[in-house]
Amino acid sequence: MYLKVKVPATTANLGPGFDVLGAALSLYNEFEVEYVPNAQKTNFILKGEGKKTLPKNNKNLVWQSMCETFKILNETRYNLKNLNITINASIPLNRGLGSSAATIVGGIILANALSKNKLNTSQIANLAIKIEGHPDNVIPAIYGGVCICCKDKYKDHETVVQLPIPKLKVVLCVPTFEVKTKQSRQILPKYVNLGDAIFNISRVTLLTAAFYRADYSLLSHAMQDKIHQPYRGKMIPVMNEVLNAAIVAGAYGAYLSGSGPTLAALCDKKNIKKVSKAMTKRWEKENISTRTYIADFNRNGVLKI
Ligand code: HSE
Repeated sequence: MYLKVKVPATTANLGPGFDVLGAALSLYNEFEVEYVPNAQKTNFILKGEGKKTLPKNNKNLVWQSMCETFKILNETRYNLKNLNITINASIPLNRGLGSSAATIVGGIILANALSKNKLNTSQIANLAIKIEGHPDNVIPAIYGGVCICCKDKYKDHETVVQLPIPKLKVVLCVPTFEVKTKQSRQILPKYVNLGDAIFNISRVTLLTAAFYRADYSLLSHAMQDKIHQPYRGKMIPVMNEVLNAAIVAGAYGAYLSGSGPTLAALCDKKNIKKVSKAMTKRWEKENISTRTYIADFNRNGVLKI
């Protein structure tokens, strides 16, 4: 049996929507698995991002996510000897673009498919959130589009609502240094001050309206944040200056992608060059080199191919 899935990168928070808003992007990791019943040795093949650094053993996150899935399904047929696993990754690692979420979703979908697809989408989403720890990367990776993730303590599943997809390009300015999400969450304060909470609630509401009305002129205001970016900015040199450079160059809105360090800007196609150049230039002034990706929003989420 041979299976292959393609999972999109994701950009979480979109500024003020910490752990609530996330969007899927047109940048992908592919995961393949082949079941070889009597094989005695796993073939773990890594290509692209992380090919030299990711583990090729039971510590690999795709395998660990498959194991969690097998556990729920009481599936005992599969092990690291009788499966060949290939990862072909284009999503940069530890840059706030959902590479671990893509890996978790890829692993769960493959393991579920090996086990006759017994889990439905909402069960897949629950398991992915449990492994990742927050919903706003795995949910858009599964469903596609721009997602609102909302956990109701009286329901056993995440409520997911998709916003209209903006007709905008996403400029991703990815610096060479990495930020680990775990560390980037630890520096956040445990409590949010009421004024900051009101600031963020107003922006998230405005952002939702901006997407529904396709009124992108609201975005520079609507993508502001006070509950995570100011703290994370201490680990990301001139973050606010780079975001500001994007707006001055014609972006509608700009924000820290997920837990960073990637900075993202939404703009019209005609302004891509100006915006990406302005962001890159500002970082270069600090001797920080970057890679730029221009993405579209992805509509469909994970695909079996
Ligand atoms: N909401 C998560 C965070 C996204 O900001 O920590 C991580 O990519």
